[in-house]
Amino acid sequence: MAIVIASDIKNLKPWFSALNKVDPSVEVTTMDEVRDKSAIEFILAWNYPHGLLRKYPRLKTVASMGAGADHILNDPYLPENVNIVRLADPGLSQDMYEFTLAAIMNRLRSLTRYRENQMQGIWKKTLYCRISDVTIGVMGTGAIGNHIASGLHTAGFRVSGWKRTAAPSGLYKIYHGNDQLESFFSNAGILICLLPLTAETEGILNKQNMQMLPKNAWIINLGRGGHLVEEDLVELLDSGHLDGANLDVFRTEPLPPGHPFWNHKKIFITPHIASIPVPGSVAPQILENYRNTIENKPLKNKVNRQRGY
Ligand code: GLV
Repeated sequence: MAIVIASDIKNLKPWFSALNKVDPSVEVTTMDEVRDKSAIEFILAWNYPHGLLRKYPRLKTVASMGAGADHILNDPYLPENVNIVRLADPGLSQDMYEFTLAAIMNRLRSLTRYRENQMQGIWKKTLYCRISDVTIGVMGTGAIGNHIASGLHTAGFRVSGWKRTAAPSGLYKIYHGNDQLESFFSNAGILICLLPLTAETEGILNKQNMQMLPKNAWIINLGRGGHLVEEDLVELLDSGHLDGANLDVFRTEPLPPGHPFWNHKKIFITPHIASIPVPGSVAPQILENYRNTIENKPLKNKVNRQRGY
């Protein structure tokens, strides 16, 4: 019995050492080095080759090496009875919050524009926005979204959230469902997408919805590339309805050379870096789920396959 890591992550050393540090008695191996596939019940996965799981006849659990599990749920060969778990880590939520805050503050104070001006020797002051001028809309108020929305509220922003199903408003107002999408969008000067990618949320950042945002709104997409209809974003940026977008996730990653986003003046690209899991921080929950798997006990942070997250 062992944990197999099936992943496209180049340097797995930190994962091996972190798992080994928490429980040296558990053997950890890679998908290329595994000796006896028929003895494996638990796979730790990130962007693994689809079809691979079928080669493990006793597989019980696939654990995502990230907060999202869409890369597993999208596997057309996903065995039916396998459980899927994902990471839930306060460190990941905090990293996402810090990224979001940096993107918003850059937007409010135009720091990138001043840098561009500097390169051309231009000394030009422009008006800036204050935290108190902005309403932020957070799409997806699960653990990460709620952490971000609460942090932004504490930092002094007006914040509202949107989720699929009704939830009581606390620190900030929560809209829900398609019926309340327009009220939510029409108030969001900066829209942050943190939704899980499901059949329902695919393409939710489309022309019809983004047009409901106030003029000069800004989009920050940290969910998945599949949430965004790319040509609709470019159209609304070019028409002047939207003022800019920070995109950290893309339909194809890495973003292909020649993609229109690369050279778009109003699009700010980062390479899926808003948060990366720290193996030392998440190893205990992975090993707990490994033990629960072999002892047939309930799993933590289990993904609901029907719901899609
Ligand atoms: C990153 O995108 C993650 O799912 O953790």
